[in-house]
Amino acid sequence: MHRTVRIGQYETANDLFVAPMAGVTDRPFRRLCRRFGAGYAISEMTASNPRLWGTEKTARRLDHHGEAAPRTVQIAGADPRLLAEAARYNIDRGAQIIDINMGCPAKKVCQVAAGSALLRDEALVGRILDAVVAACAPLQVPVTLKTRTGWDRGERNALRIGRLAQEAGIALLTLHGRTRCDLYAGAAEYDTIAAVKAALSIPVVANGDIDTPEKARAVLAHTGADALMIGRAAQGRPWIFREIAHYLATGTLLAPPTIGEVRAALLEHLAEHHDFYGERQGVRTARKHIGWYVRGLPGAALFCARMNTLEATAAQMGAVADYLDGLGAHDAPLPYANPTVEPLAA
Ligand SMILES: Cc1cc2nc3c(=O)[nH]c(=O)nc-3n(C[C@H](O)[C@H](O)[C@H](O)COP(=O)(O)O)c2cc1C
Repeated sequence: MHRTVRIGQYETANDLFVAPMAGVTDRPFRRLCRRFGAGYAISEMTASNPRLWGTEKTARRLDHHGEAAPRTVQIAGADPRLLAEAARYNIDRGAQIIDINMGCPAKKVCQVAAGSALLRDEALVGRILDAVVAACAPLQVPVTLKTRTGWDRGERNALRIGRLAQEAGIALLTLHGRTRCDLYAGAAEYDTIAAVKAALSIPVVANGDIDTPEKARAVLAHTGADALMIGRAAQGRPWIFREIAHYLATGTLLAPPTIGEVRAALLEHLAEHHDFYGERQGVRTARKHIGWYVRGLPGAALFCARMNTLEATAAQMGAVADYLDGLGAHDAPLPYANPTVEPLAA
C-alpha cells in the first residue's frame, strides 16, 4: 500500500522520508534517495544567524536546482525573531516548507540554546513556533518541527511540545526516539512516539535506528506513525527506501541490488557530487560516501586506504569502477557481508 502524507497544501510521494543530516543530505544525495524510493527529503540545516548567510556553504545548502517539490529547508536557532527572519530568507530563495530543528544535540548548536536544549524551555518553544508560523503563514508556507522525545529520560516532554506545536499551527511533527541527554547513545525508544501520535491530529513521523525493512515495519506497527524517517541506514545504501517499501507492501525481502546497479548508482552519485562541490572539495567530501557504500564488502579497507590518496575526480571514479568490477559480474547481487550502520558520534 502506498501512503502519502499531507503537509499543508503539499503531499509527499510516500511515507518514507530521508532524515536531514548535515554534511550528508546534500542535493545529490537527496536526489539519489528519491530515485531509490524516498518520498520526501529535507535539506541540511541552515543557520538562523544572518552573518552566516552569505557564505559559500549556506549558498550551496540553499541550492535546490532540479529538486522535486516540495523543497524543504531546515532552520535552527533560539531567537524567535531571528528564526522568523531565517524562514523568510529561505522562502525568498525557494523554500516551500520550513522545518524547525529542535533536535540537534551538537555542541555548536546547543551552546546557543538552540537545537534540543530548547526543549527545557517550553515557553520559548511556544514563542519560536508562533513567530515562525506567523512569518510563514501569510506566504502559504507550511512549518514543520523535528525534535527529540525530551530533555532527558526524567523529562520526556514530547507530548506537551507536540500539543504546543499543533496549537501553534505546525503542519507535521517528526520525533527522534531519543532525548537530548541520550545524545546518540543507547537505542531509540518508540513508546513516546506512539503516545504523541495517539494524542495529536497532525501527522507524526517516527525516526531513530530504523535500519532494516523488518525494523521499519515494527516501528510503524508500534507507533502508528504516519511516516518513517531514515538517516544513517541510508548512508551508502540509498536503495534501503525501496527495500522497506517492498517489504511493507509484500512482507517479503527484496533481493540486494546487483553489482552493476550499485556501480551505476555510485558513479552517478559521484558525478553529481563532483559537479556540485567542484573537483577539489568534491573529491574529499565524496570519500565518506564511498566508504559507506563499500562498508562490509570484500577488500573494502584496503580499497578505501588507496582511494583516500586520490585527488582527482577521474581517478576517484576510475578506482570506484575498478573496485566494483572486481567484486564479480555486473548481474551478480552485491555481496553484502552484514551491512552495519555506523554508530552515531556524539
Ligand atoms: C551526520 C549526521 C548529521 C545530522 N544532522 C542533522 C541536522 O542537520 N538536522 C537534524 O534535524 N538532524 C540531524 N541529524 C539527526 C538525524 O536527522 C536523525 O534524527 C538521527 O540520525 C536518527 O535517525 P537514524 O537513526 O535513522 O540515523 C544528523 C545525524 C547525523 C548522523
